[in-house]
Amino acid sequence: MSNTQEGDMLRECRPCESSQISCTPDSRSISEVVRGRVVENEPLARYTAIGVGGPADLLVEVADEDDLCALMRCVSTHGLPWTILGDGTNVLISDQGIRGIVIRLGEALCAIDVDGQRMTAGSCAAISKVADVAAEHNLAGLEGVGTVPGTVGGAIVMNAGTHRGYIDEVVTAVSVVGASGEKMVLSREDCGFTYRSSRFQTDRSLIITSVEFTLRPGDGEAIRRHLEDVRKHRLETQPRGRSAGCFFKNPPNSSAGKLIEAAGGKGMREGGAVVSDTHANFIINENNATAADIRRLAERVRELVREKHGIELEYEVRILGEWQEAAS
Ligand code: EPU
Repeated sequence: MSNTQEGDMLRECRPCESSQISCTPDSRSISEVVRGRVVENEPLARYTAIGVGGPADLLVEVADEDDLCALMRCVSTHGLPWTILGDGTNVLISDQGIRGIVIRLGEALCAIDVDGQRMTAGSCAAISKVADVAAEHNLAGLEGVGTVPGTVGGAIVMNAGTHRGYIDEVVTAVSVVGASGEKMVLSREDCGFTYRSSRFQTDRSLIITSVEFTLRPGDGEAIRRHLEDVRKHRLETQPRGRSAGCFFKNPPNSSAGKLIEAAGGKGMREGGAVVSDTHANFIINENNATAADIRRLAERVRELVREKHGIELEYEVRILGEWQEAAS
């Protein structure tokens, strides 16, 4: 891991009145530090693909990377709890919402640059868009991940991909901001990639801001055709309703969807949530489901698969926020 120079303005926040260590975040003091949008008590359901989630104490949409650094310096000075929310395609946020500051990186970090075989993409760029740009430049290597919904940052955290390849295979560097607002560049090895996982799943102190890929020369037309075919296949084999994508990881040498279907899980319901009839690894928010409905249904599915197949399914979806029922 190597440090890069912080080129950002040093905008400091005022010491918190209640305590030097920890205080309740308020929009006024945070607004003095960041240029982006700051909202108190913001319901998070509208920021998630599955459409559930209670309020964030404070939602902050930083304007750019320097803004993020300023916010993190303030947050660390005051010991404020914080959570990063990407584009919300792969999360389940509790009905109670998230305490502390929820940070959205938003439009500011969407740039995509191509320089020979090297591409750099902001963590908020859609990974499908990055793959399309690579194809336009006759660059191969992102076909596997370019058909997956979500952002570059989310794809790195999840080490997203398909049988055609995973994102880690073409990553050469990941730029991050640390919990105290310092900028760093991590090598691929620093990122600890494994199947559908990375260091960023456990080390929540690092916020991904951009990713550098090194790609191979390829046939742009063939790559474009492949991306189209897979996207078409996905539309045919995966449901369209509000969901968080595949809910569980595939167990080694198996498919969670296949196991759930074989166990009789398709069509199981809990409140407004249902296990999809199209692909059993999707839980759909069909009729104003709550996060609790979805979580309870997911637990029933796990129990069913445990009973019928003796296999313990692991969540692929990130579970966030405060839960009244025990987390597993
Ligand atoms: N299958 C069933 N019943 C089902 C679902 C699937 O029998 O309800 C069978 C299929 O017929 C197939 C096998 O299971 O024989 C595998 O299914 P599929 O091709 O749909 O792949 P998957 O392993 O279920 C993975 C990824 C998906 C990705 C697809 C396509 C995981 C957890 N899921 O699904 O990713 O879109 O491959 O490449 O690795 C996601 O990331 O959110 C996601 C859905």
